[in-house]
Amino acid sequence: MPQLLSLSRAARLADVTRGELQKKIRKERVKTFEGEIAIEDLLTLYPHINLDDDPVLERVQRIKSEARPKSHYSDGWMPDPQVLMKRLHEFQHTLVQTKSALNTSETLLDDAVADLRSALEKPEMALRAAIKQCIGKLDSARGRLDRASDAKARLFAKDALLKIVTANVRLVPSGHEYFIEGNDSILEAGLKAGLYLDYGCTSGNCGACKCKVVSGAVRKLRPHDYVLSAKEQAEGYILACSNTAISDLVIEANEAHVTDELPHQVIRAVVRKVEQESPGLAVLHVQTPRTQSLRFKAGQRVRVTTEAGIGDTLYIASCPCDGRNLIFLVFSAIGSPLEESVFNGDLSKQTVVIEGPEGQFLLHEDSRRPVLFVAKGGGLAPVKSLVEQAITIDDAEDISLLLVGGSPPGSSLERLCRSWDDALDNFQYRSTEAAIPADQLADQIIQAVEENPRIEVYIAGPDTWMKGLLQAAADKGVRTGEWTVETVGI
Ligand code: FES
Repeated sequence: MPQLLSLSRAARLADVTRGELQKKIRKERVKTFEGEIAIEDLLTLYPHINLDDDPVLERVQRIKSEARPKSHYSDGWMPDPQVLMKRLHEFQHTLVQTKSALNTSETLLDDAVADLRSALEKPEMALRAAIKQCIGKLDSARGRLDRASDAKARLFAKDALLKIVTANVRLVPSGHEYFIEGNDSILEAGLKAGLYLDYGCTSGNCGACKCKVVSGAVRKLRPHDYVLSAKEQAEGYILACSNTAISDLVIEANEAHVTDELPHQVIRAVVRKVEQESPGLAVLHVQTPRTQSLRFKAGQRVRVTTEAGIGDTLYIASCPCDGRNLIFLVFSAIGSPLEESVFNGDLSKQTVVIEGPEGQFLLHEDSRRPVLFVAKGGGLAPVKSLVEQAITIDDAEDISLLLVGGSPPGSSLERLCRSWDDALDNFQYRSTEAAIPADQLADQIIQAVEENPRIEVYIAGPDTWMKGLLQAAADKGVRTGEWTVETVGI
């Protein structure tokens, strides 16, 4: 049986996204074993995996600076982080040599058994000569064992080091996988990975995140008020919001499906800041209390109401992986009283009530196909959320974003889109003139679909524009019912 790695872990070792790895596996027709790949095949796909420069240790450095529990180091029971990193390097070096020697020994042992078997078939004189030859082979190989260093062993050592700084979590029954880094709880890391795990308070009070550890070891991060019965504890139940992983885990946990309704929530939150992106566009940053994150799916909307009772329905323009820090795009053309408060600056530091979520403009569940997002005007908000979710889940092979009319030049949104394009090999960003005729835009989308028939199309924009675009596409013989569309206010 070959040594296997999960696809998530293999992608990390090869320093590519999981989507890119899956694309390559399909293209090269490499065999996988229920979501796992053999180490040999990974090395064949990526012969130039950098086994020397170590992103794992860079990750240690980052986690150390961002999240290390200072008291542990100041107590003196742990070495200084720099010393720890040096020791990890040494450990990795030793592990490579040991594993290489073991690999070579296994091969030698197999060869020796085969040689001795065939020697037994020979007459006595020849038998002695064959045994002598076999001993000579083993003797000369023994001298090379302590200098052994093969690519398989280096990958094995790199994976072992990765396991020290990140734990892999597999959820049953869905099979979803994600990594836990730093001091994140099992829940936090799952949400950051774009999964819709069940939760309520995030602080150990409600019990909604209760899940069962099927295998692996966990550690409690903080005490919690919610009481698990003795029977539940004996059966392995824990609170995902109050525990982290010590080793790789398999967890039985409830997840919402794309088609499931999330609970209706009413949360009092604070407007942290209002940024004026352009004369016609403001970005509203709203933060919920520490103990109450908003559960929502990318592409959904909520009702936002001020203390004075002025309210409007707004699309959430941020990723559901962070339900505390919500972003809304407010366009001056909406012409609503809420928009007036935003542009007057009246809302800064004010309390608002968030109610929701609602809406079905959602990413298809577990799709690993390439995706094309097209947005115009107010459609940018739900599309931004979907793009962030797709990047977080890291399942899509390719992600393309086409902004009709673009976002304000020089704005943070424009910079964000460009930074995705620069940083991600599987992300492309383009914009067109706002006034591009519907049939020309339809041609561009049709061309993208013809170039890649597996592509999923998501479009959001104002009503009249959407009708024109869908009609133009239908006139060209496209089954637009296969596209996921959302009509927004402006
Ligand atoms: S989310 Fe409430 S106890 Fe974990």
